[in-house]
Amino acid sequence: MTNPGSLVRAVVRNLEPYSWEPSSREIARRHHLPSDQILRFDLNTSPFRPAGWERVLEEECRSGTPNEYFDTSYAELVPLFASYCGVTEDQVIVGAGADEVLDIVAKTFLDDGDAVVVSPPTYSMYAIVSTQMGAGIRRAPLGPGFGLDVDAILAAARGAKLIWVCSPNSPTGTPPDPQRLARLVDEAPCMVVVDEAYGEYAGWSAVPLVPSHPNLIVVKTMSKAFAMAGMRLGWGIAQAEVIGMLNRVRPPNSVARVTARLGAAALQDLATMRANVAAVVAEREPLADALRHAGARVHPSATNFLLAGWEPPGRAQAIADWLESRGLVVRNYAHDPELPGHLRITVRTAEQNARLVATLAEYDPAAIE
Ligand SMILES: Cc1ncc(COP(=O)(O)O)c(C=O)c1O
Repeated sequence: MTNPGSLVRAVVRNLEPYSWEPSSREIARRHHLPSDQILRFDLNTSPFRPAGWERVLEEECRSGTPNEYFDTSYAELVPLFASYCGVTEDQVIVGAGADEVLDIVAKTFLDDGDAVVVSPPTYSMYAIVSTQMGAGIRRAPLGPGFGLDVDAILAAARGAKLIWVCSPNSPTGTPPDPQRLARLVDEAPCMVVVDEAYGEYAGWSAVPLVPSHPNLIVVKTMSKAFAMAGMRLGWGIAQAEVIGMLNRVRPPNSVARVTARLGAAALQDLATMRANVAAVVAEREPLADALRHAGARVHPSATNFLLAGWEPPGRAQAIADWLESRGLVVRNYAHDPELPGHLRITVRTAEQNARLVATLAEYDPAAIE
């Protein structure tokens, strides 16, 4: 009998997969809570419904054709992404979320033994999709204030295929640094991928650098500001020749018809997205203040989340446990060697944030730690 484990690629056998906080169902079970009481502050999603939700679903119920494959060229979506980003249609690739675009980039550029550069602490999928392709990870850690260390990245990038950058960065929330990014893209001897999953909250994009930089790929998503995380839609922007190569690798039908229709509706109503972004941004500082009041050091954020650190690191774990026992889930880095003592907390509506703040206020270290 063949042992499937012995046939699995070594990089997959040794891979550390992406990790999440427990599911809402699991947390409800653990703490004997009704599942509608669970509120997620760990996934940096939007507290709002996407624009056009009811209308598109009604239309799809009436005249949708779920039995048929959808248009693999995504002809309705591509011009909308192009116009939103101010690029031409041949500079757009569509995927099932930014994660699929990251995966397509890795599959397009990386072979066994290639090198990529990442700047931790950052989004862990860059290392995961690269490792899956057999690439080695070179680390150029973020510098003071979680800024990009461009000299260190460029030194590490000699002979590398690709540099992964998150702007604004997750999990730190650090705002984009246009000058450093421009220098990096100018001087990089390889491809540079700028992941702007949270770009709408920061109000700055690297996309205008694309026409003059054939080595730049900007990755974007409908999951965050556009409130469509559960629908899975993302896109990438690069020069047409690069997009052509990425499209060779793209699975033909990963975006569902309902998702594409919803994405089109959201892109045709940018005012709703912008109002939702403004509402979240208005809540960010009050939430930061409440976290400071609870003893945290809160890092500057240009996103819809806050990175908060406690001393000693065990306090962050105790706070995460306390919140979880009340149905509030935060992203826990308390024991992460890169961010010991930190929690990452999504900014939601005033009412939802107030529930977190009130629960935090009830936390009594003497009673719990
Ligand atoms: C920095 C960053 N990039 C990409 C993604 C993936 O986004 P999507 O839902 O579009 O796959 C996330 C999701 O949290 C993220 O934080």
